[in-house]
Amino acid sequence: MIKLQKRMSYNYKLKILPFIVIFLLIVECLLVYPTSIVRADSLSVPVYEQRIIHSPDGIGKYYMGREIAKVMGYTGAGWLERPSREGEEQPSKIVSLLNLKPNDVVADIGAGTGYLSFRIAPLLTAGKVLAVDVQPEMLEIIELFKKEKNIINVEPVLATLSEPNLASESIDLALMVDAYHELEYPQEVMQGIVKALKPSGRVVLVEYRGENPFIMIKGLHKMNQNQVRKEMQAVGLVWRETKNLLPQQHLMVFEKPNTNS
Ligand SMILES: C[S@@+](CC[C@H](N)C(=O)[O-])C[C@H]1O[C@@H](n2cnc3c(N)ncnc32)[C@H](O)[C@@H]1O
Repeated sequence: MIKLQKRMSYNYKLKILPFIVIFLLIVECLLVYPTSIVRADSLSVPVYEQRIIHSPDGIGKYYMGREIAKVMGYTGAGWLERPSREGEEQPSKIVSLLNLKPNDVVADIGAGTGYLSFRIAPLLTAGKVLAVDVQPEMLEIIELFKKEKNIINVEPVLATLSEPNLASESIDLALMVDAYHELEYPQEVMQGIVKALKPSGRVVLVEYRGENPFIMIKGLHKMNQNQVRKEMQAVGLVWRETKNLLPQQHLMVFEKPNTNS
C-alpha cells in the first residue's frame, strides 16, 4: 500500500514538473528582460518597454530610454499654487519669454490648476487659452478660478492619457510646464499636439534641468536637453532654441514645419 502511494506521488511529480519548469522560465524572463509594449498602429516596432525593476518615482514604462514619471495627483494642487513659486521658478518670466500675440490660441497641456493659463489669458485680448488636463478635479479647480478671477478666455479641456482632444490646426502654441515628463503616452500625445498645431505653430517645453544634479527635484521630474530634442524629433518637430534664463528650468522651443510654403 505504502509502495503504491509512493509510486502515485512520484508519477504526480513527474506530471507537474514541466509546468514548474515553464513557470520558472517565465518568471526569469520577466525579471531579466523588459516586457515590450507594442504600438497598436505598427505591430512590429515597440515604442515603449515595461520594466519590473524601476524607480519608485516612475511607472516602470520607458520611452526612448527614459522612465516616465508618476502623474502628480490633484491633491498636489496646493503645491502648484504655492506663494513661493514665483521666487523659485519665475513663471512670470516664462510668460514673457513666450512672445505671445493678442490673437493667439494657446493650449496649456497638463494645465493642472491653470497656474500658467491664468497668467497668459490676460495677454490674449483677442485669443484664448485651452487648459488641457486628464484630471477632472484639476478642471474643476480651473472652473472655480475662472469665476473667482472673472477670466472668460480660459477653456478647460478634458484630455485622455493618449489624446489631447484638440481640433486639427487650431492652436498657435502648445505650452507644457513641468508636465511632459509625466505623460504616460508621450508619443501619442505629441502626435495629437502636432496635428492640432497650425503650420509653423510652436511647442514650448519647460522642464527642470536634468543636466544639473544640484537642482533638488526628483530625477524623473527633470529632463535633459538631448532627451527632449530626441523625443520631439521623433514626432517631426524642429528645435528652434533653448532659453536658459530661468533659475531651475530650461525653456525649449520647437516648431511644426510649414509644409504649405
Ligand atoms: C506637475 S503638474 C503641472 C501643472 C501646470 N503645468 C503647472 O506648471 O502648474 C502636471 C499636470 O499634467 C497633467 N497630465 C498628466 N498626463 C497628462 C496628459 N496625458 N494630458 C494632459 N495632462 C496630463 C496632470 O494631471 C497634472 O495636472
